[in-house]
Amino acid sequence: MKNRANIVMITALSVLAVLAASNFYVYAPDIGQPGGPVSGLSVLQLKKFYQCKEVFKQTFSVNEGLGPLYNADSCYSCHGLPGIPGNQGVNPKTDCLTYVASPIESIAKGVNTETISYKDSDFHVYEGGPIVMTKSVTNEFPNQFPRGCNMPAGTTPKDSVFVSSRLAPSLWGMGLIDAIEEENIEDLELKQTDDNLSTAGSTVSHRDRITHQDRVGRFGYKGQYTSLIDAIADQMNTTLGITTKYERAIKTTDVNYNIPTCLRSHLPEEPNDNGALLAKLTYFIALSSPAPVGKIDAATNRGRSTFEKLGCAECHVPALSTAPEYYLLDPDSQFPTKRYLRIQALENREVKAYSDLLLHNMGAALADGIATTGGVSGGQFRTAPLWGLRYRKYYLHDGRTNDLAKAILAHGGQGQSSSTKFAALPEQEKLDLLAFLKSL
Ligand code: HEC
Ligand code: HEC
Repeated sequence: MKNRANIVMITALSVLAVLAASNFYVYAPDIGQPGGPVSGLSVLQLKKFYQCKEVFKQTFSVNEGLGPLYNADSCYSCHGLPGIPGNQGVNPKTDCLTYVASPIESIAKGVNTETISYKDSDFHVYEGGPIVMTKSVTNEFPNQFPRGCNMPAGTTPKDSVFVSSRLAPSLWGMGLIDAIEEENIEDLELKQTDDNLSTAGSTVSHRDRITHQDRVGRFGYKGQYTSLIDAIADQMNTTLGITTKYERAIKTTDVNYNIPTCLRSHLPEEPNDNGALLAKLTYFIALSSPAPVGKIDAATNRGRSTFEKLGCAECHVPALSTAPEYYLLDPDSQFPTKRYLRIQALENREVKAYSDLLLHNMGAALADGIATTGGVSGGQFRTAPLWGLRYRKYYLHDGRTNDLAKAILAHGGQGQSSSTKFAALPEQEKLDLLAFLKSL
């Protein structure tokens, strides 16, 4: 009888142990590492993080909303292979999006790639632009559709004048950037205007897809996204073809989707996502940790001083800080009912992104001719954050080089004075500066 009681006792204890494991413990070996969570999250938050990370890696099917035109079947396929979710694209040929535009006819002669504006641009919408969708569900999954029902994949319009390839950027630390107060970015703009008008950056304002309020753009190569969730809603649509209730269902209404009638009845209902997918992707990316700073030694310390001396730090501002309160959509909300969660781990934190998040004119060599609403011209780019630089293989918006010195020398326009000074440095000082950049 005693033995039996012991067995019952042991069983009860092990049940308790398992319960304890699921409620108070989670295996999280990669806290603070690339692809892992930021530090300071609760066990429950960590669990949600790892669940949402799987969604980021997931391959989507037509039934889940993929297509009808799309560029890839998972977020991970552009942002993060091989191995580390959220990493920058590793192949400038495949891990990218292609933007196309041309000057409108009346200004076609004598157009300037750097100064061209939105109103002077034709984005080839009737031919599938401004973002080329290179895959079609009927080509990729012919067995799922009636024979003869074809939707041609997008191609770069032959007569497009500006064709800009953009490499998938690193997504680590994005929640920290999202948590910066808007006033801080506007203050930087004012300060730069006071300090040095010739290199001063500017903000751009856009309507946020989720809140429908005008906000300062802070994500995307041209500051075209105002918040992380805004960026992700658009990325779901323009890369995978998945529509959300937060963005108009462009698949059926937009001119660039001439969906054949035979195909419509074989596609899932729109919007494809009621918010659950968007919330999960946002949760994972928001809580992804920035890469930890690498080895610091005498050379990287000298390089840091040179970075400041050359004026790099005026645009690549070493640190900003986050708001005292920050909330994320709960990925486990019962959509369409939403619940928000406070994320203390992202509050009052230093953001060592090395960017002012402002737009700068970068000169003819970098200009891509793609203008946006809000007055962003073909030559303007948001200062690239430099954190995690040592994990990147290719640099600049189009991934045109894997040589860090060449990336610096490509700075023209408002970055010209810095790059000229860099070119004139004694060899050792150049090496120190590069060593500093590779410690980020
Ligand atoms: C076909 C490649 C590709 C796929 C697939 C893709 N992206 Fe992107 N992503 C890009 C490119 C290129 C950009 C830069 C766009 C720009 O600013 O012009 C980008 C930008 C972003 C940004 C803004 C980053 C920043 O630095 O401001 C976020 C966030 C993002 N993607 C998330 C996602 C999510 C989530 C998915 C899956 C739904 C996804 N992406 C799928 C290529 C891709
Ligand atoms: C006037 C503002 C400005 C100044 C000054 C400036 N940069 Fe940049 N930097 C940018 C912008 C904008 C980009 C993005 C350009 C692009 O993607 O085409 C960039 C991109 C970079 C990149 C590529 C990052 C990546 O991930 O692709 C590096 C490296 C870099 N800058 C280093 C420097 C260094 C070093 C200096 C000083 C010698 C410097 N920058 C001065 C604005 C500036």
